[in-house]
Amino acid sequence: MFIATEKGMIMARILIIYGTTEGHTRKVAEYIANVVRREGHSVDIADSSLYKTPLDKSKVDAVIIGASVHQDKHQASVTHFVKDNQRALAQLPTAFLSVSLIAAEPDEEAQTEARQYISDFLLETAWQPQRSLSVAGALLYTKHDFLKRLLRRYINKRLGREADSLGDQEYTDWEELKRFATDFIKQVVEPRLAAHEAVL
Ligand SMILES: Cc1cc2nc3c(=O)[nH]c(=O)nc-3n(C[C@H](O)[C@H](O)[C@H](O)COP(=O)(O)O)c2cc1C
Repeated sequence: MFIATEKGMIMARILIIYGTTEGHTRKVAEYIANVVRREGHSVDIADSSLYKTPLDKSKVDAVIIGASVHQDKHQASVTHFVKDNQRALAQLPTAFLSVSLIAAEPDEEAQTEARQYISDFLLETAWQPQRSLSVAGALLYTKHDFLKRLLRRYINKRLGREADSLGDQEYTDWEELKRFATDFIKQVVEPRLAAHEAVL
């Protein structure tokens, strides 16, 4: 259950679960956690590959889940978390962040593809979050040598740039993320807690 503070404000407990392969979605999740904390709420944040605790909806007021796309799929550990906790998630305010490189491309075709990643994931997991967002990720292609060739081909195809002239690139729109997190808290989580408190 949520906690009423001395000032009468309702402090929600937000759980943030993220899946990451290269580390960028962790950075996104930590950024969201800071935004939520600044709104006066408490946050637990965990990597989906390490988090095995069943979701207890009496101990959490809302859940934000982030995952990145690798070869057209989000992390299997995030898929498992959502499937394993389907009932609890359906009874809580929830939001989904899908981090991909295609979301960095402004054209409609790319944006449709980025949205399709979300639709496919939600269909597969039978989850209906109140909010979802395609987040432009990062290209940390210097991180793993064995990925360079694959990524060079990917970059050339998708962005039409000279891969050799690129270092690590970050495309995330942090202001958009802040708006997304703030709107979720203000428009979904807080009204629900206030309505719940009025009933008690
Ligand atoms: C091996 C590999 C495959 C990728 N496949 C896709 C893809 O199919 N579609 C896409 O939009 N982005 C793709 N990306 C880009 C990642 O989604 C992007 O780099 C993201 O920021 C990775 O987040 P992470 O660091 O949390 O794993 C791929 C990246 C790598 C390294």
